[in-house]
Amino acid sequence: MPTYPAEPFRIKVVEPIRSLNRGQRVSALQAAGYNIFGLRSDEVYIDLLTDSGTGAMSDRQWAAMMLGDESYAGARSFYRLKEAVDAIFGFRHFVPAHQGRAAENILAKVLLKPGQFVPSNTHFDTTEGNILDRGGRPVNLTIPEAADASNLHPFKGNMDLAGLEAFIDRVGAENIPLGMMTVTNNSVGGQPVSLENLRQASAIYKRHRIPFFIDACRYAENAYFIKQREPECAQLSVREIARQMFALADGATMSAKKNGIVNMGGFLAMNDDELFQRACNELILREGFPTYGGLAGRDLDAMAVGLWEALDEEYLAYQVGQVGYLAQRLLEMGFPVIQPPGGHAVYIDAGAFLPHIARDEFPGLALAIELYLEGGVRAVEIGSLAFARKDEESGEMVHPLMELVRLAIPRRTYTQAHMDYVAETAGRIAARRKEIHGYRITYEPRLMRHFTARFEPL
Ligand code: F0G
Repeated sequence: MPTYPAEPFRIKVVEPIRSLNRGQRVSALQAAGYNIFGLRSDEVYIDLLTDSGTGAMSDRQWAAMMLGDESYAGARSFYRLKEAVDAIFGFRHFVPAHQGRAAENILAKVLLKPGQFVPSNTHFDTTEGNILDRGGRPVNLTIPEAADASNLHPFKGNMDLAGLEAFIDRVGAENIPLGMMTVTNNSVGGQPVSLENLRQASAIYKRHRIPFFIDACRYAENAYFIKQREPECAQLSVREIARQMFALADGATMSAKKNGIVNMGGFLAMNDDELFQRACNELILREGFPTYGGLAGRDLDAMAVGLWEALDEEYLAYQVGQVGYLAQRLLEMGFPVIQPPGGHAVYIDAGAFLPHIARDEFPGLALAIELYLEGGVRAVEIGSLAFARKDEESGEMVHPLMELVRLAIPRRTYTQAHMDYVAETAGRIAARRKEIHGYRITYEPRLMRHFTARFEPL
């Protein structure tokens, strides 16, 4: 049996959860239009929809919230957060934002003009959405190893550097107002990016005078993988590695709902003084005054503490270990899971698991639905439903690399017995996979359709 380090904490507060019977789950799903985002949380037993904002805060974070200073301007809470952000990330400036996509929105507003390109290893859907919404064109340059679920490349989140060079040559650096890197690379399996790859991408961007922003949501898990897998970093602390990562960039967007272990919060950091000024003005319009950015003072305090806790290496060993444990159990049951497992979620290659379902009939959605019906487990599709879109030039559908289902592990929230329950639920589905069918869309919005689309079984 696989194992992982026992929780480096004990449980002080509990939140009851309960399991519906199968008939109740069928009705709940039909009422939700077969979209698992439409379910009530009370209709879910183990909720692995996301690791974002769903983690358990520590006693220290809750205590810090009591110290929240709710002054409109210049609150003590802001300065406590500033101390943490400055020490960990090391950029000259930052503004709080209520979550990652708010930071992305501000960044896109201040840097991007219609028709311009933004390359990345792989943009997350909100980043892609924010770029598209400003008339920009997101471009993903993932290394080819990322498309092979069983390839054991240690840094499958890496950017295709030759591809980046060729892309810049093709469209011209003047049409690229910023370049990005997502760490860890959520959309291809929560896969880490190596320090070496970040260094080289940074050098390319620098040579072409393209500002480089890191999407830093899961930077601590990424730094932990660098320590494990990049020999030159084995002796460094995760914090030191993080400093080296951010020293390569001109700024970062952060959803602290991941590696800040808060329920809500984020920020946008940058070095450039003039850009900071414009970001502040934009922030005031959309999020709030630059010392609170759409958050309560108590939220800023919880974030200030959580950012440090997410760098704790014992905690990281447990978090990454729990993800690896579930991945291993699913693998043993015959599920094609992305290997090596990433830091926040297990990804099943639903396209390989359900080869009889066509990509435009959403094998990932079909598997996510089965997990819910079988055991009340909520997972999310990260495949053609979330990411397929029409290419502007050719008019053809561009599909993502894979049809994935993600089982995200909320931080410090579920136990090993919960992981075993999930594995056993999945095991029962594996036994009858040939009977599973695809779905058809009955409603979809213009952008980010997976959140609110409705479906019917085929
Ligand atoms: N970047 C990445 C890599 C993300 O995974 C997310 C959110 C964001 C940006 C946006 O942050 O939600 O705070 O606005 N990911 C969540 C997820 C939603 O489930 O993976 P946000």
